[in-house]
Amino acid sequence: MLRGKTIVLGISGGIAAYKAATICSKLTGAGANVHVIMTTSATKFITPLTLQTLSKNEVHIDTFDENNPQVVNHINLADAADLILIAPATANTIGKLANGIADDMLSTTLLAATCPIVIAPAMNVHMYEHPAVVHNMNLLAERGALFVDPGTGQLACGYVAKGRLAEPEEIVDAVSNWLSKPQLLAGQSVLVTAGGTIERLDPVRYLTNDSSGKMGFAIAEAARLLGADVTIVAGRTSATPPSGIRLVRVESAEQMLEEVLARYEQANVVIKAAAVADYRPLQRYGQKIKKSGDILHLELERTTDILQTLGESKQDQILVGFAAETEHVDEYALDKLKRKHCDFIVANDVSAEGAGFNGDTNIITIYNKQGIVERLPLLSKAQAAERLMNIVAARLQQIKDDSHDR
Ligand code: CTP
Repeated sequence: MLRGKTIVLGISGGIAAYKAATICSKLTGAGANVHVIMTTSATKFITPLTLQTLSKNEVHIDTFDENNPQVVNHINLADAADLILIAPATANTIGKLANGIADDMLSTTLLAATCPIVIAPAMNVHMYEHPAVVHNMNLLAERGALFVDPGTGQLACGYVAKGRLAEPEEIVDAVSNWLSKPQLLAGQSVLVTAGGTIERLDPVRYLTNDSSGKMGFAIAEAARLLGADVTIVAGRTSATPPSGIRLVRVESAEQMLEEVLARYEQANVVIKAAAVADYRPLQRYGQKIKKSGDILHLELERTTDILQTLGESKQDQILVGFAAETEHVDEYALDKLKRKHCDFIVANDVSAEGAGFNGDTNIITIYNKQGIVERLPLLSKAQAAERLMNIVAARLQQIKDDSHDR
């Protein structure tokens, strides 16, 4: 996918700048034409000559270093780029791009660019988690930038924490994937629910389930890679949410219902991957329940079925439900699809090896009203999510084609 592509590699000033040499070398090795822009700070960590030698192109640092009178460098680079990769991206460079500041060659080129932008942040963990940086990253993601999350490990500042630049292979793969993905969901708004809900008994106790949120998060990432505008409404999750995708946190089924309904009308696709409680305590105690006697009886009442509520008021949205079953998977899944007025049901036999809650893999079957659309083998949740989103995108395309024919 990289052969013949023009990639602008922006390097900003952090210790991980030295890894940009490997990234540059891998990109050129895969056939890309790489043009490097360094910030002045980046040149303190790695020399421009290294990058010039590896990219076989002039390295740009100063906006006013216009040595070719035929072109204006930053506009020329922005126009020529199939993709701009910023690796490492410091908090400062991220902040500048989010806020439209153009005061050096890299930030000026970024503002002039209309191509996809991939950002690989690297910084101290407290900087990475600072509300200003989180806000800036969310803003950029909403505008369509793709983030390659930093890894966890030894940071230059001595902390062992999140903030280390992702491995060069991972960054190059993300660039290659982005360039190879047709933007099938461009302009579509996708709402994904993830994780398990929490139903409180008293101020310190609650009922919940084992959902990690991994499947919902993988679906959100897959949708974003296809160009969708994605929002996640998530309950309790143990997996880390993908950075740069709009995330709304909720606790209970009732709160999830509220947040999903508030966004339903604008959504083109809704994917209900969350494990929502079917029952909640009838009474929620204001004070901690004191023990008394050998047996404690709790009364539970039904929660609102969010998927069913959505199905009953469905307009043009594509509605995808999930079914976690332990037996009669096909039969129960198709019944659920009809009862809840879904376009698709994704079912998995949670008793099968590799398909339970919490793991990194899943074995799913996707159904529509006619029956099985696809029975997938054991796949990573990311692969399964990608397949699902391609099926959803194909359905949207089919609806569009049908309306044109009419
Ligand atoms: N769901 C929901 N609201 C609820 C319960 C479930 O939106 N209160 C959604 C889940 O997000 C999932 C789908 O419904 O997409 C399937 O959940 P499940 O609990 O398996 O459905 P039920 O029909 O309640 O299952 P069963 O009949 O097997 O109890």
